[in-house]
Amino acid sequence: MLRTHTCGELRLKDTNKEVTLAGWVQRVRNKGGLVWVDLRDRYGVTQLIFEEGATQESLLDKAASLGREFVIQAKGIVIERASKNDKMPTGDIEVKTSEVSILNKAKVPPFIIEDETDGGEDLRMKFRYLDLRRPLVRKKLQLRHKMMQETRKYMDGEGFMEVETPVLIKSTPEGARDFVVPSRINPGEFYALPQSPQTFKQLLMVSGFDRYFQIVKCFRDEDLRADRQPEFTQIDCELSFVDQEDILSIFEGLIRHLFREVKGLELGEFERMDYADALRLYGNDKPDIRFDMKFEELNDVAQGKGFKVFDEAELVVGICAKGAATYTRKQLDALTDWVKRPQIGAKGLVYVKCNEDGTYKSTVDKFFDQAALGDWADKMGAVPGDLLLVLSGPTDTVRKQLSELRLKLGEELGLRDKTVYKPLWVLDFPLLEWDDDTQRYHAMHHPFTSPKTEDIDLLDTAPEKVRANAYDLVINGVEIGGGSIRIHDKELQALMFKKLGFTAEEAKAQFGFLMEAFEYGAPPHGGIAFGFDRLCAIFGGSDSIRDYIAFPKNNSGRDVMIDSPSKISNDQLKELSIQLLEKQIKEN
Ligand code: AMO
Repeated sequence: MLRTHTCGELRLKDTNKEVTLAGWVQRVRNKGGLVWVDLRDRYGVTQLIFEEGATQESLLDKAASLGREFVIQAKGIVIERASKNDKMPTGDIEVKTSEVSILNKAKVPPFIIEDETDGGEDLRMKFRYLDLRRPLVRKKLQLRHKMMQETRKYMDGEGFMEVETPVLIKSTPEGARDFVVPSRINPGEFYALPQSPQTFKQLLMVSGFDRYFQIVKCFRDEDLRADRQPEFTQIDCELSFVDQEDILSIFEGLIRHLFREVKGLELGEFERMDYADALRLYGNDKPDIRFDMKFEELNDVAQGKGFKVFDEAELVVGICAKGAATYTRKQLDALTDWVKRPQIGAKGLVYVKCNEDGTYKSTVDKFFDQAALGDWADKMGAVPGDLLLVLSGPTDTVRKQLSELRLKLGEELGLRDKTVYKPLWVLDFPLLEWDDDTQRYHAMHHPFTSPKTEDIDLLDTAPEKVRANAYDLVINGVEIGGGSIRIHDKELQALMFKKLGFTAEEAKAQFGFLMEAFEYGAPPHGGIAFGFDRLCAIFGGSDSIRDYIAFPKNNSGRDVMIDSPSKISNDQLKELSIQLLEKQIKEN
């Protein structure tokens, strides 16, 4: 070993020990006859001290000449520091160095490799391997590592078997676009990268594996956001002979285990809410229930008073921001501008200040007298000092807009505390959703999700009303996971494909293998998958999952470090028979 200890390890009790450390030079401070070097490795930073007289002159020069990020080995004695640094775990000691060897020189790094850095996001991503040396970034990956180990521990303890499924597969219908890989030895044909191992895990149930899990990479070619990467990781799970309640309870157990072991936190109750209620009360299927501010529908008190905007709207709906009547005109104008931005798209914002003296001041005083505004306030449970914010329009649109406004206000009023965790199961998702573009129904979750038995009859008459045995886990407004009880009956699966607009031939071509498998004794089964990167980000108190991925892609789906995606050579193109595809496209 090139070292006896790590740079995070030495304490006062180690005083007088002879030690050898190895690591990267973070800083060199030269005070003439005295040189200090901060030596860093994965475990921390230890201060080395080089003194005149006590050591040879050449050693002092050598120390002074060390460049940032040089890799060195240093031998010396642990001594108590004269001026201690209580911000560092090793801050009580330093190593009085008697020998130093340079293991490797380094170019001057493009940014400061400390928590406080001068490197912008792009630069740090280009040199991600250097960014990863920063303790702040490293700690995030350590958290990820711990989460992964604890997940495996819990799952193994519950009798789940980790099985790997292939990465070169055929398209899985999860709703996003597939990434595809041309096959050289099958000219003109493609593999798809899995959006999830959905069909394989169901096949494993047919094989009798009864409790499967996998921590697995999934690939989706979709628009990127802070909580979406084109390749991401799922904790993917499937079980046989269970009902929805069993699944919720086992995975509530997983989440509790992770919070307990990784954060030392006992979670409170996992609340439950129907999808329909989530939309009605929060305008969102992943409500942040850390704060209340529920929607109140106001059609009955706000329509018919001559205010055309409300009278013509399908839905008039508002929220009550507790204590926010102190918002100034400027702040309210800013909120109004905010909801009018194209990203939100509201036409305007009506507000009512509930004054301390019991009167109301609104933007629609012309149409609504004090009594009318009092009716709104009563309905919304408002008291003097509160602020009512009201939007109107087509139901789906206005709910989305008010949901955004609610979250923004929650943020502004400090109600979205990152140290508070509120898990929520959202249940009873619709099975199908209508897609205007393709003019047909799509599976809201995926085509293998089973309808609720009591709703099956509605498949013919009112497909949009059929509820699914599907559930999502939401924590603090982030969709952390989702799953469902599956269809295990071939006839019902065939009916689902039909409802989704697949012809029998199309269904056979895409999912023949699964339908055939269901003819050989498929057990009742169901499962769930958690977005592992999102779970890590929530644990770390971050909105972006990128920090928790060692080598993430940027917002354009690029890895700027390895410069990917990139062009490939003509020879490669030829070998992959890409020219066949041009022909195929022209012929169609
Ligand atoms: P679903 O599509 O809901 O379900 O995905 C499960 C969870 O994966 C996470 N997730 C993502 N995380 C980061 N980047 C992305 N692009 C991304 N897309 C999804 C979310 C989501 O809740 N096969 C089903 C699961 C099942 O039915 O068992 C599935 O994949 O946290």
